[in-house]
Amino acid sequence: MQVLSFGSLNLDYVYQVDHFVQKGETLASTGLQVFCGGKGLNQSLALQKAGVTVRHAGVIGPDGQILLDMLEKAGVDCSLVQRVKEPRSGNAIIQCDRQGDNCIMLYGGANQVVDEAMVDEILNEFVPGDYLLVQNEISSLPYLVRRAHERGMYIVLNPSPIDEGLFQLDFSMIDLIILNEIEGKALTGCAGDIEELLERLCGVFPCAEIVLTLGEDGSIYHGKEGTIREKGCRVRQVVDTTAAGDTFTGYYLAERIRGRSAAEALRTASCASAIAVTRKGASVSIPELDEVQKFTSDLQESR
Ligand code: RIB
Repeated sequence: MQVLSFGSLNLDYVYQVDHFVQKGETLASTGLQVFCGGKGLNQSLALQKAGVTVRHAGVIGPDGQILLDMLEKAGVDCSLVQRVKEPRSGNAIIQCDRQGDNCIMLYGGANQVVDEAMVDEILNEFVPGDYLLVQNEISSLPYLVRRAHERGMYIVLNPSPIDEGLFQLDFSMIDLIILNEIEGKALTGCAGDIEELLERLCGVFPCAEIVLTLGEDGSIYHGKEGTIREKGCRVRQVVDTTAAGDTFTGYYLAERIRGRSAAEALRTASCASAIAVTRKGASVSIPELDEVQKFTSDLQESR
């Protein structure tokens, strides 16, 4: 069984700010750091750190070698990543405020040159039962999902960021969806409580197991194993929430691939993302498995 993570690779320009810049305002940042990121790259790294061997597919521009170096150093197979002379690699302008919250502006760059021929060439390497993990930062996503489904792959969607293009996907082809409450509400139009949101998500994703993250309030699984709630893990200081969701997604999926129950997977993924928010940056904040295991067992003892 192989795991294909087909997604974005970005250079993240992270500006430390007092508050998010307002309309018409010019704001001096207090610091700038450049990190490897992109939801695709982050989730591949989280999966690999969580102990699953990953093949990453995506596209980089001439400035993207650092992104490959980082993935390869962690053990991710990057033989399916393609290079183009232009445009440049995707990038993200990230403002990170004193509370550790962020807002992100994306430039798609090379992530947006994924086309149908590329998708076909890459999917040829995969067979029924293999996993495909995707987010919404590359072009040709509806085609990729359709062809992977026809191939009998197990499709995991993290529908982030939400935009109109996402609605071109055939949601009945998704086997596992991992999303946050805001994304859930945007996808379903639900304005009600969590129970109603889950019900609406089941309608939109009729064949999928659903994992809904609720920030500090934890996470919920709904699917074959019933409805399971995991309390959130509190941390002393939130430094930067960037890639917390990516860390959760990678760790949750890794646990499930290993055959762990939904409850165990939620717990491990919550602990991994709790560690990630105590560190600056996207990919660099994703913890190693042994650290997550220790955090998880300490948490269980204290409960
Ligand atoms: O989820 C965090 C990621 O979103 C960042 O690394 C940034 O590149 C954007 O894709």
